[in-house]
Amino acid sequence: MVKVLFVCLGNICRSPMAEAIFRDKVKKENLQHIISTDSAGTGNWHIGNSPHEGTLDILGEHQINCENIIARQVEEKDLQDFNYIIAMDASNLGNLHRLKGFKESGEVFRLLDLMNDLSIEDVPDPYFTGNFVEVYDLVDKGCEKLLSYIKKKESLSI
Ligand code: 4NP
Repeated sequence: MVKVLFVCLGNICRSPMAEAIFRDKVKKENLQHIISTDSAGTGNWHIGNSPHEGTLDILGEHQINCENIIARQVEEKDLQDFNYIIAMDASNLGNLHRLKGFKESGEVFRLLDLMNDLSIEDVPDPYFTGNFVEVYDLVDKGCEKLLSYIKKKESLSI
């Protein structure tokens, strides 16, 4: 199994959105038995909570299933368990590097690092900006690119 973990700060806005969008793309390509998707936050405030209303609303508008997505905090063992750990912004990446005993066994980078045609590198936090539409567009583009990247890396392309 190729395991992908999306990471943000609270795990209620951006990373659960990325989890749902990426999982949807994986399913549409019939790769759900090969690629698994999860998300977590570096903070602990929202453990056990459902995604933010803004995330649920925009996913609903795009008919993207968001079942079974519950906030959790990233753990040290995630660094060994996941093949791809995808942060939403530079601060999340810094927090991952500061995890006790940081030693990743897979790849760790920001979602938008793969997009060289964008002038933006971090997915803005809609918890503070309120702009879930902008975030959806960025995350959707990023996830599309990430899936092609992983398919190539893992030799899953037809
Ligand atoms: P997220 O947004 O990292 O995209 O889930 C946030 C959600 C909650 C908080 C911060 C960011 N908070 O401070 O509670």
